[in-house]
Amino acid sequence: MPPVHRRRWRISLTCPPLIALLALLFAVQGRAAPILEGDRAIPLLGNAGMVVTSHPLASEAALKVLKEDGNAMDAAVTAGFVLAVVQPRSGNIGGGGFMMLSSDRENRVVAIDYREKAPAAATADMFLDQSGAVDTRLSRFSLQSAGVPGTVAGLLLALERYGTIDRERALAPAIALAKNGFIVPPRFTQGFEHLRKHLQRDKTTQALFYKADGSAYQPGEKFMQPDLARTLQRIAEQGHKGFYAGETARMITDQMQAGGGLITRQDLANYQALVREPIKGRYRGYDIYSMPPPSSGGVHIVQILKLMEPFPVARFGHNSARTIHLMAEAMKLAYADRATHLGDSDFVKVPLKGLLSDRYANQRRLLINPNRATPSSAIQAGEAPAYESSETTHYSIADKFGNVVSNTYTLNFSYGSGISVAEAGFLLNNQMDDFSAKPGAANAYGLIGSDNNRIEAGKRMLSSMSPTIVRYKGKNLLVTGTPGGSRIITTTLQVIMNVLDHGLNIQEAVNAPRIHHQWLPDTLRIETGISPDTIERLEALGHRLEAKAAMGASQSIYIDDEGIMQGAADPRRGTSSAMGLWR
Ligand code: DON
Repeated sequence: MPPVHRRRWRISLTCPPLIALLALLFAVQGRAAPILEGDRAIPLLGNAGMVVTSHPLASEAALKVLKEDGNAMDAAVTAGFVLAVVQPRSGNIGGGGFMMLSSDRENRVVAIDYREKAPAAATADMFLDQSGAVDTRLSRFSLQSAGVPGTVAGLLLALERYGTIDRERALAPAIALAKNGFIVPPRFTQGFEHLRKHLQRDKTTQALFYKADGSAYQPGEKFMQPDLARTLQRIAEQGHKGFYAGETARMITDQMQAGGGLITRQDLANYQALVREPIKGRYRGYDIYSMPPPSSGGVHIVQILKLMEPFPVARFGHNSARTIHLMAEAMKLAYADRATHLGDSDFVKVPLKGLLSDRYANQRRLLINPNRATPSSAIQAGEAPAYESSETTHYSIADKFGNVVSNTYTLNFSYGSGISVAEAGFLLNNQMDDFSAKPGAANAYGLIGSDNNRIEAGKRMLSSMSPTIVRYKGKNLLVTGTPGGSRIITTTLQVIMNVLDHGLNIQEAVNAPRIHHQWLPDTLRIETGISPDTIERLEALGHRLEAKAAMGASQSIYIDDEGIMQGAADPRRGTSSAMGLWR
């Protein structure tokens, strides 16, 4: 029997006139909202390239690279720099992230870690006030909240090792958009209006992103960033040194010295992005590749899938009370482990093998009561076997050469710390808040951490970012990931399960209402769209439900066995944009 995900959706794709019509209508065009075919949301199609990002200008620039025979890595680097210009809330050069690359031809998947690092002067108690409480203003909105940025190193590493175009070409669209400006969409205005008071506390941020009278740029108006254009130009000309040394490094460290920040020239000079071995797991015959530490994403996605594998969730039904209950219980177990075991594995021992083992999943699954929600207070992290040897943004890209890229990067909060580097024209992250400032104290996403994630000089803070690639029989099948803080892991998990278990096409899988449980707080968060009687049943099982804002923005691609690339832009973001190439 073919896997569930193939059975239903192929019906539409085996109809050539439909493909031709869709190709005609949508090839090389973007659209934010999914269209409907009959009663189904359908993805955008292409067979020679697909780009799905959170901004049409980024999708357009990346698609042009693919059209000119660049590969997915070239396009991903181009998109990364363009987002840093057109979407300052999360696109960045002052933050960090993770990129997964997979090549069918070389049968190779690699993970690039360009997470920020704690500066050398950082200490475990740097965010504690005199009474020993966490000072969240300091950990989130000060120069000390910034980790050493990794984005430029990560994107350049991806380009140099795996790309084909030169740096100037990769950066040219970003530089042009910064220099000549672009027309701002409503979402740009909304973001800056919504956070005006907060963002205008930093005078550089105010001068960079608001008009002279302090008002936000309005939809339809042009927004230019000459300082950022010059910084990008230095990167184009000098590469890594254009950011981590010379003028840009001077601008960053001048700012740090003037405002009590910790990042030094040495910290910048020492920063390196790293190529890491992805977390790999098997789920119902599919190979799941996702981010290893310092992200917790890959470990917990694979762990939850393993916990779920014996349950016939397809039969129980998509978003039925039974399925949601089991998923929530599995999520609690994984997030309890996250709080205790996860941290930067270059600094602390993370029992990866144990956490990912079948034996451990089988043992932990026994704690799931199919008829009753187990209170989080009754759940602790497991003793993972210690084996003898022992507003973030996501985009997905596929090229005609069999490469795919899944990239998530962030400043942490929307606009990071809110503080910009004078003269250099970009916002700094506040990623230091992702460390556990004190054991047991929650970070901004309510995540608890242990000693494994305490602040240490040069360490990378734990992340949930989970760029993920699913392969089937040695071929790229699904490229996915999302922003959303602690919800990143569960959102990515649901997109995977919606396709693999429930046979939804990728657009439906992305659109479907989501749920989330992170152990603590002990609440099952749901999006609009879970039916009232499902909610009633879940409450009867003992869950405390909380309906809150939409979770995540999963820009995803599915590639079927005829090589048709299906792009799904997440309707939860007004600027989400899928663009496909047709040959
Ligand atoms: O690395 C992490 O897990 C967080 N800093 C991600 C933040 C995030 O996704 C915010 N966006 N919605």
